[in-house]
Amino acid sequence: MSTAVMSGPRLADIIGTGPWPGPAYDSLTAGISRAIGDGRIPVGARLPSEREAAAATGLSRTTTSRAFAKLREQGFVVTRRGSGSVVQLPEVPGGRIDHLLTPAGADEAEIDLTCTASVAPPWLLGAYERAVAQIHAYLPGTGYYPSGLPVLKELIAESYTTRGVRTAPDQILITSGAFGAVSIAVRALNEGRGRVLIESPTYPNAIATLEGAGASLIPYPLELSSAGHHWDIDAMDHIARQTRVRSAYLIPDFHNPTGALLPEEQRPELGAMLRRNSMVPIFDESLVELGLDGDPTPTPMAAFVPDSITAGSTSKIFWGGLRVGWMRIPTHRIEAMASTRLSLDLGAPVLEQLVAVELMRDHDMIVGEYRVKLRAARDSLAAQVRAHLPSWQVIVPSGGMALWCRLPEDRSGALAVAARRHGLSLVSGPNFAPAGGLDRWIRLPYTVSETQLGEVGPRLAAAWDDALKFTDRVPAGRARTVA
Ligand SMILES: Cc1ncc(COP(=O)(O)O)c(C=O)c1O
Repeated sequence: MSTAVMSGPRLADIIGTGPWPGPAYDSLTAGISRAIGDGRIPVGARLPSEREAAAATGLSRTTTSRAFAKLREQGFVVTRRGSGSVVQLPEVPGGRIDHLLTPAGADEAEIDLTCTASVAPPWLLGAYERAVAQIHAYLPGTGYYPSGLPVLKELIAESYTTRGVRTAPDQILITSGAFGAVSIAVRALNEGRGRVLIESPTYPNAIATLEGAGASLIPYPLELSSAGHHWDIDAMDHIARQTRVRSAYLIPDFHNPTGALLPEEQRPELGAMLRRNSMVPIFDESLVELGLDGDPTPTPMAAFVPDSITAGSTSKIFWGGLRVGWMRIPTHRIEAMASTRLSLDLGAPVLEQLVAVELMRDHDMIVGEYRVKLRAARDSLAAQVRAHLPSWQVIVPSGGMALWCRLPEDRSGALAVAARRHGLSLVSGPNFAPAGGLDRWIRLPYTVSETQLGEVGPRLAAAWDDALKFTDRVPAGRARTVA
């Protein structure tokens, strides 16, 4: 978090010096909140005093005071004695912290589009039953398996070898989801002090865990063309060289939230660039199996960057509630990763690992059925958005669990707020931005039930109508989402 103090002229550089239409204090409030929302005024910055701001913007002291009061009221600024007016992002309704507190189905009228995750598949109960039947064999032991159950590690290692990157079971560490794997990796690689290159947009919890580990994030903006989002390796190389960043967190496979897939032909190129810059990347493969258009499962990026960490998970293909994920580690880093892991937790639950083993035995059938379901859901949602919101740009990704839609105006925060009144929970675009902005984008997961999905288009259109009527831009605040 920045602690920079901003001068009056600097504030005027960012928001301009007028004219200030309407009630001037409203205009000034909107100018400052917009600049905070899109990252031009960073969170943690200290605004100039009201007197200085008045002088720099050409407004009266009374007007400036009213604007600052409104910013405080809206949650953009907190005023603390001794440190002045410090910029923050308000909480925006539209995200949930803990789905366990609001289990699916608790409010049938509400459609929760905050999460790219599905309910458990029908096979899960049988897998639990079979796992319970095996657990007696483990009861004479202590139940502590800090690196994971050997049987599960073997299955995962084998799947990497089949996908083209030879892997020994020792290179696998079972973690609490892919999220756990990323947390361990960033702590071990950066010791909480390094810079990490990260795509913008990206998965919100990755921003949280990397920042939580003390990393400074260097955003790499994904490119956009009519065909969708894609990676420009030269542009990434340029940023890497300029910032001398030594690590990266990347989602090359059906990237969350865009659904973009790094094409096979670009994989060696990305690998060479990362090696050339001596970077040790973390590749998040959480969504790698969710190709929906029949393409083969992508080659693991680890095949092109031997010194890289890969995070994987059962959450997207089986069920998030298992909390079973893993990391694939180069041999010389096993020790460091294992010891960092022990500073965070002591291993994953034995029963859930046995369930994961059971599900993996039926992997092809389960994943095959899920892809068919997701593909239909993706196509239905895309058709609805096109029909109900013709001014939006919808790019249909070849995989993943969500559409990332471009709005005709910067009103994603307003849309998330308006949507609540129509029984729809959304996470606004700025939540996916490591460094602010993205209020022109909204993520729409297609993982809810078919019945709920059928209602998304009309509710979204009604919410958008409301959002267009908002006079104040709604804050690009941080909501919370788990997936
Ligand atoms: C890119 C990405 N990484 C990690 C996760 C979290 O996965 P897990 O439940 O395995 O911790 C998600 C969930 O949406 C995700 O999209």
